[in-house]
Amino acid sequence: MKSKLNTKSIFQIIAILLLPLFLSSCVKATLAWADLNPKGVSGTPPILAANFPGDEQSVTNISDWENRRKAAIRVTIQDYIYGYMPDSSSITVLSRKTLDRNAFGGRATLEEITITATATFGTQSNVSRPIIIELIVPKNADGPVPLILKQSFSRRWSAVPHPAVTGAPEDGPGSIAGIFKFVFGRYIATPPLSDILDRGYAIAIAHPSEFIPDNPSAGLKALADLSKGHNDDATRWGTIGAWGWAYSRMIDAVIDDPRIKKTGFSTYGHSRYGKAALVAAAFDDRISAVISHQSGTGGASLNRRKKGETVTEITQTYPHWFSQNYAAFAGRETELPIDQHHLLSLLAPRPVMLGNARRDVWSDPNGALKAAIAADPVWKLYGPDKGLRQSRLRPFMPEAELALWLRPGTHGVVKEDWPAFLDFLDAHL
Ligand code: GCU
Repeated sequence: MKSKLNTKSIFQIIAILLLPLFLSSCVKATLAWADLNPKGVSGTPPILAANFPGDEQSVTNISDWENRRKAAIRVTIQDYIYGYMPDSSSITVLSRKTLDRNAFGGRATLEEITITATATFGTQSNVSRPIIIELIVPKNADGPVPLILKQSFSRRWSAVPHPAVTGAPEDGPGSIAGIFKFVFGRYIATPPLSDILDRGYAIAIAHPSEFIPDNPSAGLKALADLSKGHNDDATRWGTIGAWGWAYSRMIDAVIDDPRIKKTGFSTYGHSRYGKAALVAAAFDDRISAVISHQSGTGGASLNRRKKGETVTEITQTYPHWFSQNYAAFAGRETELPIDQHHLLSLLAPRPVMLGNARRDVWSDPNGALKAAIAADPVWKLYGPDKGLRQSRLRPFMPEAELALWLRPGTHGVVKEDWPAFLDFLDAHL
C-alpha cells in the first residue's frame, strides 16, 4: 500500500513537472477565459450571398442550396483549406475477426475489421496502409443501433482496453497514457464504453496515425503516396482531409452490417480529429450527426479575427494537416473567399454539436459560436425552428440541430463531456 501511494505521488509530481511540455501551445488556454458572447461576426462572408466562387446567384431556398451552393462550397473549401478528396474511393476488407463474443460483461461483441482503402485521383488508384477498426456492438438490441465513429489519439488497445485487440496490452498505469489522462481528462484515451453501450450505441474506433502518420515528414509522404494522380501540390490534401475521408471508409466497412442503423452514423472527434469529423460529414451525406469537440482552428472556429491559435501557427507547426494553399493565406485570412462557417454549412440540416471548454481559448470557443451563427441561415432554410437556438455559448441545448456545449476547464475530454455527447445523440438519433 505504502509503495503504491508513493508511486502515485511520484507519478503526479512528474506529470505536473511535465505539464508545460504537454500543454505547450495550449498554455494560453489555461490563462484566459472564452468570451460567452459573439462579438464581431461582421466581416464574415454571408453564407447565402451572391458572388460565391462558382455560384454567382444568391441562395434563397433549399433547391438553390442543395443543387448549386453546396457543391460550390465543397470545391472551394478543398481548394483553399483541406486539399482535394479522391475522385472515387473503395475499400478491400482484409479480415473480420470476432475478438470477444461476450465483451463488457456479456453486453456486447468486440470485433476487429482490417481494411485497406483505395483513393483514385484521375486515372491513378492508390492503396492505403491497413486501417484497423475496433467495432463494439451491443447485443440483444431490438433492432439496428446507431454507430458512433471515433478516431482516437490513443492507440487502439488503449482506446479499447481488451487483451484481444491487435497490439495489446494496453499501456499500464504510470505510463505516458496515464499522464495524458491526468492532463487531458479521464476520457482522453478510453471513452466510457460501458455507458455508450448502455445508452444503445455501437462504437467503431480507429487510430489514424497507423495509416496516415501525424508527423510532418512521414505524414506528407503518406499523403503524397495516397494522392498520386493529383498533380497540384498547392491543393494536395492534408491529414485533416485524409482522416476525414478515412471516417467514410470506416462506414464502408460496416455499411452492410444488419446490426447497424444506416441512418445512425455519427462522427465523433476531439481536437484535430474534431476537425476531421467535420470534414468527413461535409463530404459524406451518409453521416447523420457530428460531435466535434474543441476542434478550433481549421475546424469549427472562424479564421478571420481569430482568438487563440492562428492560421500561421497551425500551418507552421502542422504543415501536414492542410493544403499548402491554406498556409499561403496565413496572415491574410480576410482574403480567403471562405471561412469555417462554410465547413459547418455543408453539414446542414444534420445535427452538429460543437464542444468547448471555457478556458480553452486556444481552440477559440467564441470563434466556433460565431461560425455557427454565420452558418445557421442554411439550417433556417429547412425550417425556422432548425439549427441554432442559442445566442451565447451557454446554455447547452442538445435538442438543437446546431448545439454548442461549453463546460468549465481546459482542453481535453472530461467526465461531463461524454454524458453531454450522448444526450445530444439521444435527442437526434
Ligand atoms: C494542438 C493544435 C490544435 C489541435 C490540438 C489537438 O493544440 O494546435 O489545432 O486541435 O493540438 O489536436 O489536440
